[in-house]
Amino acid sequence: MKKIIAFAGSNSKNSINNDLATYASSLIKDVEISVLDLNDFELPLYGIDFEIEHGIPDNALKFLDHIKSSDGIILSLAEHNGAYSAVFKNIFDWMSRAEKNVWYDKPMLLMAASPGGRGGQSVLEIAQGKFPRMGANITGVFSLPFFQKNFSEGKIIDEELNNHLKQVVSIFSNVI
Ligand SMILES: Cc1cc2nc3c(=O)[nH]c(=O)nc-3n(C[C@H](O)[C@H](O)[C@H](O)COP(=O)(O)O)c2cc1C
Repeated sequence: MKKIIAFAGSNSKNSINNDLATYASSLIKDVEISVLDLNDFELPLYGIDFEIEHGIPDNALKFLDHIKSSDGIILSLAEHNGAYSAVFKNIFDWMSRAEKNVWYDKPMLLMAASPGGRGGQSVLEIAQGKFPRMGANITGVFSLPFFQKNFSEGKIIDEELNNHLKQVVSIFSNVI
């Protein structure tokens, strides 16, 4: 059975991006899904001095292993000040020190959710510019604005947005 990892670029216990990544992964049938939590991969703040002294921490290597052994990645990024959240940037930086091809050429469904109207468009633009140069095969992009209005009881309640998500999920599941 194909293995998918789903995770949020967030360390919030109530992460809306975790809700979206979990929901999107539930739409794919007959796959093994692991929902990963960045809180389980605690890391020191990246710094060259720490790296020279201690090397790359195990948790960065463990997360890379999850990516490498998967058949596809569902990632929903939190947007902080128009960019990656600190916790995502940190693990991304650490992983990139061990492996330039961080995403290992895996298919990726790239998403973002936000409470506001832009739906994390800025962080999505940054990721779309960078991830393909680090081995991501982005099969589709989905943005969920006004999360509190559009998402309830574990799913998207706006029909148009839900149909769009189903389309990108379907393309992703055909590629994995
Ligand atoms: C420091 C900080 C900066 C933020 N900047 C943005 C932003 O630039 N754009 C946006 O849409 N939301 C922004 N937000 C709101 C987040 O989208 C919101 O907290 C969301 O719940 C984060 O996703 P998460 O629940 O998955 O962690 C910001 C929140 C914080 C704490």
